[in-house]
Amino acid sequence: MERVDASDSHQEKANLAKRMEEPLAEPVVEPTAAIREWVRTKMSPRRFRHTMGVFETVPALARRHGVDQKPLLVAALLHDCARELPEEELLELAGKWSLPIREEDRLCPLLLHGRVAAEMGKRKLGALDPATVSAVVSHTAGHPGMTRSDKVFFLADTIEPGRDFPGIEELRSAAMGDIDAAMLRAVEFSRAFLVVMGAVIDPDTIRLHEALRARVHGPRPYG
Ligand SMILES: [Fe+2]
Ligand SMILES: [Fe+2]
Repeated sequence: MERVDASDSHQEKANLAKRMEEPLAEPVVEPTAAIREWVRTKMSPRRFRHTMGVFETVPALARRHGVDQKPLLVAALLHDCARELPEEELLELAGKWSLPIREEDRLCPLLLHGRVAAEMGKRKLGALDPATVSAVVSHTAGHPGMTRSDKVFFLADTIEPGRDFPGIEELRSAAMGDIDAAMLRAVEFSRAFLVVMGAVIDPDTIRLHEALRARVHGPRPYG
């Protein structure tokens, strides 16, 4: 049996008391080299190039649309850090961390990768800026309540220099114009791609698409 040293338990109590006195951790606002190197260990070289492509794309878009770029640079580093986890592990981590798991997430566990990435980031770094969390969580499927900052991030993820699909150049110029019109184009491309792949379409993406269509083109008739 392992011997418990009384001085250890005193030390433990002292440490606990000290921790309780400490203020809550300040959120991480700097996209540091340490974060970059940590996420590099979580992904293939190809995905890391994509990550750095998003990182490079954020500043110009953030400036154009008047949002704070720093939390989005941290989001760029973190957003796909769970993208290459096996599906069972995504479900397991989401369960262990009490993240909401919907029916669609069970059908397609990859839909969880943004939410799991945000939680991994918080657990690794202590605390994150709310704008970082929001961008990381919403980058996977979007949702109708996205902030301007979330939209900038979603677009950066879609148009980073490594992306190549028919219509990408049109989307890159659209991203520098009206943000909702650009988002509408981005979601249309994404939905078309998912249909071709026969992939699950997240109901949040469908609701986002409807909201953007209404915002850009006005309400549509029913039926
Ligand atoms: Fe992603
Ligand atoms: Fe991404």
